[in-house]
Amino acid sequence: MDAKTDKATGSITVGNKNWDFPVYKGTIGPDVLDIAKLYGESGMFTYDPGFTSTASCESKITYIDGDEGILLYRGYPIEQLAEHGDFLETCYLLLYGELPTPSQKADFDYRVTRHTMVHEQMSRFFQGFRRDAHPMAVMTGSIGALSAFYHDSTDIADPTQRMIASLRMIAKVPTLAAMAYKYSVGQPFVYPKNNLDYAANFLHMCYAVPTEEYKVNPVLARAMDRIFILHADHEQNASTSTVRLAGSSGANPFACIAAGCACLWGPAHGGANEAALNMLAEIGTVDRIPEFIRRAKDKNDSYRLMGFGHRVYKNYDPRAKIMQKTCHEVLAELGIKDDPLLDVAMELEKIALHDEYFVEKKLYPNIDFYSGITLKAMGFPTTMFTVLFAVARTVGWIAQWKEMIEDPKQKIGRPRQLYTGAVARDYTPISRRK
Ligand code: SDX
Repeated sequence: MDAKTDKATGSITVGNKNWDFPVYKGTIGPDVLDIAKLYGESGMFTYDPGFTSTASCESKITYIDGDEGILLYRGYPIEQLAEHGDFLETCYLLLYGELPTPSQKADFDYRVTRHTMVHEQMSRFFQGFRRDAHPMAVMTGSIGALSAFYHDSTDIADPTQRMIASLRMIAKVPTLAAMAYKYSVGQPFVYPKNNLDYAANFLHMCYAVPTEEYKVNPVLARAMDRIFILHADHEQNASTSTVRLAGSSGANPFACIAAGCACLWGPAHGGANEAALNMLAEIGTVDRIPEFIRRAKDKNDSYRLMGFGHRVYKNYDPRAKIMQKTCHEVLAELGIKDDPLLDVAMELEKIALHDEYFVEKKLYPNIDFYSGITLKAMGFPTTMFTVLFAVARTVGWIAQWKEMIEDPKQKIGRPRQLYTGAVARDYTPISRRK
């Protein structure tokens, strides 16, 4: 633990009993009260469904200030990384903790590029899916299947093996994602090309066909690369916490990433980009926005505006601003002048940002609000949106998994509960049940 403890303590008092616990300070952000000994000393658990006030770990990777709308990867603001760097530089930063020198960057790019192919047998694995399977189902299954290829060669206690597994994941997930897309449209798989950079190679694997030369649009490749940077990591979100919990048992890292991918699929999390675009399409025209705003505000209606709100950001998601700018760049490059979905999105954002319900609950557009419009313009079907999120977030999942495995205090995660079920009672033979 590198957290600073200046012997500060916090105390918990229940009735006439009082217990003191150490308070730790991070470099920035809220202090924490270390309650690890609470149960042993008081016989009580804390109770925090959804972990709204719980720090599950110490981490040096990503910092979010939800009130100020700040996102830092290893201390570097997301705005600067998205503007000046590329995705593999961000991957290096998240994994190693520092920006690479030119030679380190060249070596890292080389190492990742040479792991982009998947075992040829994987293509037969895909044949087992229905052709209309959701690409996220295919991704979750195929990432998990990767563990079958490397299980015997992944000694997670060996730092070299951990780094090889990390590189394999970063390199192979885009290949699997492109294969999931090709499988869904009935086109042949396209092999990676080592002479293309990460984002360009991904677009080539998605859109090239054997019958003609495919030239990657550099503006779209840059936009894809930036979208990957924006989605790379985000502190202890639901899918990252899933990966950490799965990894805490010592499970194969590929299986842990598959668990994270499954969690990301939910519409409250990474599935929101697909749901947000479907919502904009359902609204259809600007004049129908008030009806949807009313539904979102109705306490008796579970309807929510997808792409709005966030557990941590109570200000504008800094990634959403960059996403909006990228959206306009892509639409301009593609000559899409009046996209009705963008008109609805811009008007919906304007109304929501001035509506007292959204202002009072601090509901701002999050990263998923504009990403869908951008990805649709780039030619991706909505079912692929969360797959693209998973491609980007793989580096965050694996960096957080590595940090946890390398933490000497690491132990298996095993939360407790508040039990409100039946107390002990004797079995009644079925012959005596009415
Ligand atoms: C991601 O955690 C991360 O970092 C995630 C992520 C990442 O990079 O990993 O940033 C990616 O998942 C972004 C979030 C994408 N999800 C959506 O856009 C789905 C729509 N948003 C909501 O479902 C919701 O805002 C959550 C799930 C994102 C956050 O929910 P919380 O923190 O549990 O907040 P809540 O549900 O308790 O909402 C607080 C209040 C509630 O009203 P009250 O019960 O207090 O009266 O705000 C309301 C909610 O009803 N509310 C919304 C709303 N989101 C919250 N009302 C209308 N529309 C919405 N979108």
